[in-house]
Formats: sequence, C-alpha cells, structure tokens
Amino acid sequence: MPIPLLHRCCPELAGSLPFLRLGQAPTPVRRLPGLGTRSEVWVKDESGYGDGGWGGNKVRKLEWLLPEARRRGARTILTVGGLGTNWGLAAARYAREAGFDVAVGLIDHPVDEHVRAQLERLRASGATLHFLHTKPRLILAAPWLFARHTHGRTPPYYLPAGGSSPLGTLGAVETALELGAQVEAGELPEPTWLVTPVGSGGTAAGLTLGLQLAGLRTRVLGVVVNDTLRLDSTTLLGLTRRTTALLRARGADLSGTGATAPHAIRTETAWLGDGYAHPTTAGDHALAHASAQAGLTLERTYTAKALAALLALDEADRLDGGPVVFLQTHGPR
Ligand SMILES: Cc1ncc(COP(=O)(O)O)c(C=O)c1O
Repeated sequence: MPIPLLHRCCPELAGSLPFLRLGQAPTPVRRLPGLGTRSEVWVKDESGYGDGGWGGNKVRKLEWLLPEARRRGARTILTVGGLGTNWGLAAARYAREAGFDVAVGLIDHPVDEHVRAQLERLRASGATLHFLHTKPRLILAAPWLFARHTHGRTPPYYLPAGGSSPLGTLGAVETALELGAQVEAGELPEPTWLVTPVGSGGTAAGLTLGLQLAGLRTRVLGVVVNDTLRLDSTTLLGLTRRTTALLRARGADLSGTGATAPHAIRTETAWLGDGYAHPTTAGDHALAHASAQAGLTLERTYTAKALAALLALDEADRLDGGPVVFLQTHGPR
C-alpha cells in the first residue's frame, strides 16, 4: 500500500499523524466527452475507493480518524447523521471492521427508496442506532449518548456529522494531492475548477488546502446541498485554516505555504431546492444524463445536485472556460 501523499510532502508528519489505508490510490481521472457544452468536463472518481463495503469520499476521512481513535484508546466511535447517512454507514462499516463498537445518533429527513435501503444497511452493520428525530433532541441527548457509550473511564471518540473535523478533512487534502500528481503526470490538464457537493464541508475545505499544497491554481466550487449547517465560503475557509493549524501543531513545516486566499472557494446555493435530502428536478435530470452519457452512478442528495450545478454553470459560461473536474464522491456497493 503506498504511503499517503501527505506523508510524502511533509515527512515530519509520518510519526505524529497516523494513517490507515482503506482503499486503492490513486483514484482514476477521466474525461467525460458526453458532458459539458463550453468546458471540458473531467471526473476524479472516488466511487471505487474503499474495500469495506461502502466507498467514496467518506472512506478518505476515516483513514485519519480511525487511527486517532485507536491512539486515544477509544473502544466506541460515536457519530451522527440523517436517516440515510452515507457517512454513518461508512463509519459503521469501517470502524466495526477495525474493531470498534459504533453508535449513531440519527435525525429525520425525507425518506425515499434510497434512504430506506441505506437505513437497512446501517441496521445490518451492527452499529447501535439512536433515533432522535430532530437536531434539538439530538443535542439534548448528547450527554446521555456519551455516558451510555463510555466504557470504564474511556469515553467514545466522537466524529462530527460527515466526519468533518480538521482531522477528517485531511482525507480530502489527500484527494487533492493525488489530483496534483495526476496533473503533473500529464493525465489531465490543470483544471480551473474542482466541483464538489458540500454536505458538512470537510471535503470542500480539505480540497482547498490540498490544491494549495499541490501548487495548483485550481479553485474549489462547492455546491451546497445541506441547509441545516452554516456552509458559506467563510465557514469553509475557517475549517481549511483549522486543518492547516492541525498540520502545523503535529509538526508539519508549511513555511512555503501562504494563507489560503479568500477566493480559493466559491459556494453555490441555488441547487439546494427545498432543503437537505429533498430531490430536485435539475438534480434528477443531471443524474439521468450522467448515467446515460458518462456511466456515472449518482444519488439525489449530494452528487446529482452538484453535477446539475456544474452543467448549468458551464452552459452559462461561468466556469472560466474550464477544464473542470467533477469529484464523484458517491460510492455505492
Ligand atoms: C455522496 C456524498 N457526497 C458528498 C458528501 C459531502 O461531503 P462533506 O460532508 O465533506 O461536505 C457526502 C457526505 O456525506 C456524501 O455522502
């Protein structure tokens, strides 16, 4: 298994920031000739990443989070999400495989076939599920959840929604470093934009830092699909800064790296529709188009809305001529 590019670019992190490889890197890039009218559209396809039964961008976060949980001596991973949470499912499967107990606090949102199937997978994962229905109830229940999952004197290791702590955010730093290596190797041209859904923000924030470390001028276009969290560019850049601070605190020499430019992330909120996990017509069109023209399997909550934004902005010539890269974050099994 190759060592992470982050350890290669900052060797001083190898001893202080443990990493557990969970998938095959690098994930492929390919041109999507059937998509886009004005710009070349490429995909960096994370869907095949991960060997533990569920793939995509969540696995990248767990590669940094699970070894940290082990370092702290935790026995249980506690996390939260919506009923159809991809994050909760990935966390449950990979953490259980790594020997942890897993507990997930769940809140309600619209239920369709996909969400029902996700919930079944989550039940089958062996995680303990707590149905708390609303965010206020989840917050009120937090002390009880911690107490319930404390073993002896060891509390559970808490992973925030979507795994978007500064440590989890390193997963997307790694993805962007990979993209940088692929540009350098001539596999694709340097993109103007890297387009990703924004659900809890770690992916967009980490990509921004990783692109900067890779020396690319590519900017991150985050398509916001969640209205239950504050996810504007200022908030995302705050997470990028906290992730940079984490690397420095663990000993990384980032002296050649300046502050992240305020324009490094642009967020788009017009593709959210009625809210988190509410499908949109534009998203459903993009989903069908991606399947027919590019052989990409999207889902309706994150990736369909992100691709809908990419296609509309391309048509309106708002992507600086491209090429643009779509990050395929969904990894069904
Ligand atoms: C398929 C998919 N894409 C994108 C995201 C969003 O990533 P982030 O939470 O880091 O913003 C998620 C989050 O769970 C996801 O499941």
